[in-house]
Amino acid sequence: MRIAMFSARSYDRRFFSEVAEQEGHDLTFLEARLDRQTVTLAEGYDAVCIFVNDTADEEVLAALAAGGTKLLLLRSAGFNHVDLAAAEEHHLTVSRVPAYSPYAVAEHTVALMLAVERRLHRAYNRVREGNFALDGLLGFDLRNKRIGIVGTGKIGEIVARIMRGFGCSLRAYDPYPNDNVRDYGVRYVDLDTMFEECDVITLHCPLTPDTHHLIDADAIAKMKPGVMIINTSRGALVDTRAAIEGLKSGQIGHLALDVYEEEGDLFFEDLSDRVIQDDVFSRLLTFPNVFITAHQAFFTEEALRNIAETTLGNARAFEQGERSGNELTREEVLGDPQKA
Ligand code: NAI
Repeated sequence: MRIAMFSARSYDRRFFSEVAEQEGHDLTFLEARLDRQTVTLAEGYDAVCIFVNDTADEEVLAALAAGGTKLLLLRSAGFNHVDLAAAEEHHLTVSRVPAYSPYAVAEHTVALMLAVERRLHRAYNRVREGNFALDGLLGFDLRNKRIGIVGTGKIGEIVARIMRGFGCSLRAYDPYPNDNVRDYGVRYVDLDTMFEECDVITLHCPLTPDTHHLIDADAIAKMKPGVMIINTSRGALVDTRAAIEGLKSGQIGHLALDVYEEEGDLFFEDLSDRVIQDDVFSRLLTFPNVFITAHQAFFTEEALRNIAETTLGNARAFEQGERSGNELTREEVLGDPQKA
């Protein structure tokens, strides 16, 4: 199958080339992001493979279909960037990688929690500059702290398991509770109770119209003063402007992000020679108690190999007229809470 790989980086080339050889697919790696301008590059390709900051709206999907593309391969779990209704209308099959390594994301979540809480970002720079003073680096024990997990699917469940090992007291909110998580001593509560009770709130639910700006000014006002917020899920779960106000007032004590609502203009690129035009993001970078990584929670050897194998396995199933089980349709997404 001829597949155009958009937003391809050196690591995509490495892992996908290895698997493509075994699977017999013909891949073209394109650095360009898929959008209304670049969609013409996909003309004549049976399948197009995209990542989280590519555009797959009505116009792009219509152009893909008109150019002969039949299959849209998402090399991600999240699919909030795809207009599934339009895909259906244009007879495009959409498949994703539902679980490439929930461990990668859960472990990065805990890494962020520890880094921001123990001020490791500041300590690293200080020691390199010969400054061995400890002022400003005071942390707290995670043991006995209350951790609130929003979304207890594959990633949230692993976060619960890890944090239980730290001796934390665990709360969770999910409209579809997970019995495995209850076994780790997690108590399901409503969101307001979680906001009132928890020292740390970590987000692991998908981005949907319901969860857009789940953490807004109202939610932040209900939280414990000095709360820690961690987001490794999707940027728009957090209203960044409200978070900045929360940081300024001290209501938010620590903020760690792997995702940002306007990350499409920033992440996955080397912009170190340019002036960042996003004033909101630049403001975030000025806080000593904010730690940001650029959507790298998924970025482990195991996850990348799994993404390549599953994505190209999805392509093979499609080519052979079979279902891989990873296809997304509007009906299935609406009917299946695990996919919503
Ligand atoms: P999952 O589908 O296994 O779990 C999501 C959970 O969220 C489900 O239990 C679902 O019932 C729950 N949920 C749905 N609506 C909710 C709401 N309104 N409030 C609270 N919970 C709700 O998904 P998984 O694999 O655990 O991934 C979670 C999210 O992590 C993905 O949606 C994706 O956006 C993000 N992600 C981020 C990555 C990164 O590199 N930073 C990599 C992979 C995923």
